Amino acid sequence: MGAKYRLKQGMRALTSFRHTPDLQMAARYLNMAQLTLFRSLPRMEQLHAINVLHSALDHKLNTDDLRAADDLAVAALLHDCGKVLYPVRVWQKTLPVLVKKASPRLFRWMADQDPKNLMWRGFAVKANHPAWGAQLAGQAGTSERALWLIAHHQDPTGQWESHHYAPLLRVLQAADDAN
Ligand SMILES: [Fe+2]
Ligand SMILES: [Fe+2]
Repeated sequence: MGAKYRLKQGMRALTSFRHTPDLQMAARYLNMAQLTLFRSLPRMEQLHAINVLHSALDHKLNTDDLRAADDLAVAALLHDCGKVLYPVRVWQKTLPVLVKKASPRLFRWMADQDPKNLMWRGFAVKANHPAWGAQLAGQAGTSERALWLIAHHQDPTGQWESHHYAPLLRVLQAADDAN
């Protein structure tokens, strides 16, 4: 996620007030508890998740498993739901990206600080929202496969190369990066 992504994110923040998240689309895939969780996300994040869903659905999945597309859709909608715990403004997202690139070790140290402290919040949220999201989505009755996708959506692509959910993770990550 580079400067282009940040720029896109900034533009999205500026224009999100004009758009309404497609809740009917979300409700096609989410149960009531999941939908409540989805709706607790800031509007900009809801719009992002819906766009990720559309991109993910555009991919032709090479599997006979009929549940795979549904689990991917749920993961697309809820992949960033961990962000509900500690709201972050757009400017708070930029510095962690730069620090992570410059020094992953420094980033890790900052990300391990208390997210209640606004100084570190952006770092903690960037690093931990996949795990937090999987926990929240788990409480909302999400399948094991969708939870795994949420928990690992930010991991380096190569890390799970041989995992049986790797093809779905690749689709989710590509969709996330594109939006
Ligand atoms: Fe994320
Ligand atoms: Fe995302």
